[in-house]
Amino acid sequence: MQADRFQLTTIMAQQREIAELGNPVLRQKAKNVEDISETEIQELIDDLIITASEANGVGIAAPQISESLRIFIIAGVSSTRYPDVPELETKVIINPEIISTSDEMEKGWEGCLSIPGIRALVPRHKSVRTVYRDRNNNLVEECFSNFTARVFQHEYDHINGVVFLDRVENPREIITEKEYMKLVIQSHPSEEQE
Ligand code: NI
Repeated sequence: MQADRFQLTTIMAQQREIAELGNPVLRQKAKNVEDISETEIQELIDDLIITASEANGVGIAAPQISESLRIFIIAGVSSTRYPDVPELETKVIINPEIISTSDEMEKGWEGCLSIPGIRALVPRHKSVRTVYRDRNNNLVEECFSNFTARVFQHEYDHINGVVFLDRVENPREIITEKEYMKLVIQSHPSEEQE
């Protein structure tokens, strides 16, 4: 694995099996992390980074690898699943809270590593103000907007047992990945959301 690229802190990082829709762990409210410095927690964070990267995901939450803890990753590498998304810095988000949200909502396409082959239009707040711990236990207050706000809200839902299909307003806005790719290539790729 490319440890330098991902700034991993443990040597045992491994790709983990992804829990899929129907697995009860995805429906549990995850628990707060008590001691971020614990080796098990640091290894879990590295596993999340590796697993998201190998699966070409833009984010992943601990329940998706069957760990019911309030940790998620917003991935920092460009992704073939989301070719139009700009490169982001990898963020490790622990025990997050959403302090406030914009009134303005925006519908955008989302997919999920736990629900393979499916995309849907999901309304999200255009921006969110958040507070969380990073992997060094620093308290971080940060505003996210647009695509990153969408990823944050999607992953935040995961640690509360919610999946993106729960937020779809119209079942007709659920489509397969194959049809989604046609749609994106045909229309306006620069507007792809997730
Ligand atoms: Ni997901």
